Amino acid sequence: MARPKVFVSNAEVPEPGLALLRQECEVVEVPSNNPSYDTILQHMPSSGVDAIFWCSKYKLDAAVVDAAGPALRAVASMSAGYDHIDAHLLKRRGIPFGNTANVLNDAVAETAVALVLTVSRRLQEGRRALERGLWETGRPQFMLGLDVAGSTVGVVGLGGIGQAFAKRIKAFNIGKLLYSGHKPKPEASALGAEFVSFDELVRKSDIIVMACPLTAETKNLFNAQVFDEMKSTSILINVGRGGCIDQEALVDALKTKKIWGAGLDVMVPEPIPVDHPLVSLDNCVLFPHVGSATVGTRAAMAVLAAKNILCALKGQPMPSPV
Ligand code: DGY
Repeated sequence: MARPKVFVSNAEVPEPGLALLRQECEVVEVPSNNPSYDTILQHMPSSGVDAIFWCSKYKLDAAVVDAAGPALRAVASMSAGYDHIDAHLLKRRGIPFGNTANVLNDAVAETAVALVLTVSRRLQEGRRALERGLWETGRPQFMLGLDVAGSTVGVVGLGGIGQAFAKRIKAFNIGKLLYSGHKPKPEASALGAEFVSFDELVRKSDIIVMACPLTAETKNLFNAQVFDEMKSTSILINVGRGGCIDQEALVDALKTKKIWGAGLDVMVPEPIPVDHPLVSLDNCVLFPHVGSATVGTRAAMAVLAAKNILCALKGQPMPSPV
């Protein structure tokens, strides 16, 4: 019997995931580690495929699904977020779709903690000062930051990543942990987290961490009105998706010191142009979307995406269905 054909949209998918697929399938890889959308489409076999392993920043849309042909019976994205996948289309066509939720929680939570510390203790600004010969050793008020200890931390979206972050930040002896979302979460009580409205979280938090997906509801969730409500000593961290923040309003809030600082692992666009105002602001720390970028986590994501495909091809439920 012919082995099912799996189309892999990137040549840099970690080997453990590919090895798993190769045990049971024929794997067709796009021969580039950063292919354009058109290049991906060009490499889709004209005879069609049984599954798509999507590892790309580009949108998996109707054109990709159509190019895959009528045999398509599984789609897996090597990501937790899936705002770049037309999940509604896949659902309408009855094609099982999975993501790589949870295996990246620890890595993304570590990134959020790194951003909290970098912004609150002005580590990037201090490093820039050192490089420019502006390190003033005699001054007792040189480069003063804000304490994380004793602070009120608010998590927007207490899902897997939000919970992993909450566990870690509690070790810094914070004062209070708040969270907002659709409804209270059963896991919150073990974390000592208090469910509050979004408005209350915004008004009361010293440190706000956004760990929510990009949806119609969260697009530009942090906008000029919200920045007006935040404390002038507050910090905004985003490890979800850049589109959840109105970036122009953020630039204004940081320049006019409506808020103390921001730390972003995600932004719009990615990569952000190097002459974008956020890049030069001392009270803004930008990471190049490295939340899940560890050797172990990316391998785990590749394996989970492969398992999603293998299970769907056998007619079994995906381990991480959307
Ligand atoms: C995801 O998986 O959605 C992450 O943003 C990738 O780093």
